[in-house]
Amino acid sequence: MGCFSCFDSKEEETLNPEKHSDDQKQAQSTPISNLESLPSGVDRLRSRSNGASKREFPVPKDGPGVPIAAQTFTFRELAAATKNFRPECFLGEGGFGRVYKGRLESTGQVVAVKQLDRNGLQGNREFLVEVLMLSLLHHPNLVSLIGYCADGDQRLLVYEFMPFGSLEDHLLDLPPDKEPLDWNTRMKIAAGAAKGLEYLHDKANPPVIYRDFKSSNILLDEGFHPKLSDFGLAKLGPTGDKSHVSTRVMGTYGYCAPEYAMTGQLTVKSDVYSFGVVFLELITGRKAIDSTRPHGTAVVQ
Ligand SMILES: Nc1ncnc2c1ncn2[C@@H]1O[C@H](COP(=O)(O)OP(=O)(O)O)[C@@H](O)[C@H]1O
Ligand SMILES: [Mg+2]
Repeated sequence: MGCFSCFDSKEEETLNPEKHSDDQKQAQSTPISNLESLPSGVDRLRSRSNGASKREFPVPKDGPGVPIAAQTFTFRELAAATKNFRPECFLGEGGFGRVYKGRLESTGQVVAVKQLDRNGLQGNREFLVEVLMLSLLHHPNLVSLIGYCADGDQRLLVYEFMPFGSLEDHLLDLPPDKEPLDWNTRMKIAAGAAKGLEYLHDKANPPVIYRDFKSSNILLDEGFHPKLSDFGLAKLGPTGDKSHVSTRVMGTYGYCAPEYAMTGQLTVKSDVYSFGVVFLELITGRKAIDSTRPHGTAVVQ
């Protein structure tokens, strides 16, 4: 359904056909967004997470554990890792910017380096949320953040490299020589992605609403083991007896739950709707929204 035609939330909303990001106008609305600039080292991140209330930062329910702080890198280190962001290292591009494959000189580890496009739609706030969320949340079905670079106005994120790319690359618009995923692999990917969501919703405290569940954000490790990526839009869920959080509407066209799109009231169920859309993509091999197909034949209308 064309859920983006009828947005009507009380708060400010902006929607693009692709992913949407908070901008500076919203920078005071949540505790996380009060961090105006990234720490130059991990200490500030640590002290914030230790000193903050549970409302401000999610912790796994089975114990707060020790946040695995992300490493900081200099721009020079990441330029060296990606051979100066050479085209042959280019992996793909999303709303945040370009992604390159690299090898860290210090450890030899193969990584994916995502560089914020400073002219792009998404920005510093998503960068901060991504670093904070992935420093505190750890699960086999969430991608690991190795570190980041916040040198000057550069903003780069360094992730574990996922050798099989995204689910979207294996599911949709396959070149003729590429084998489609077999049924078992599809179900394994659905189950793993669901476990990642379950961790965010039921094991993190307060719950984390992912808000950007889609096939291009499900990355695949060896053996098609799925991991959720891109936490820049993630939002802390309701606590106590509250059923929802009110927020501006963000997400990706086709995957966004219509009731959230219409009211701005976000619940963990908004992610469950998006999971359903991806599940339909998995079993049909069709895109959520496909403008090239006749009206009425896409997964979501
Ligand atoms: N950690 C990673 N390992 C390998 N490839 C990645 C990784 N992160 C992103 N990519 C690739 O880079 C591309 C762009 O990713 P991203 O910026 O997240 O945009 P989007 O989610 O909109 O596709 C994706 O198609 C994905 O295949
Ligand atoms: Mg992504």
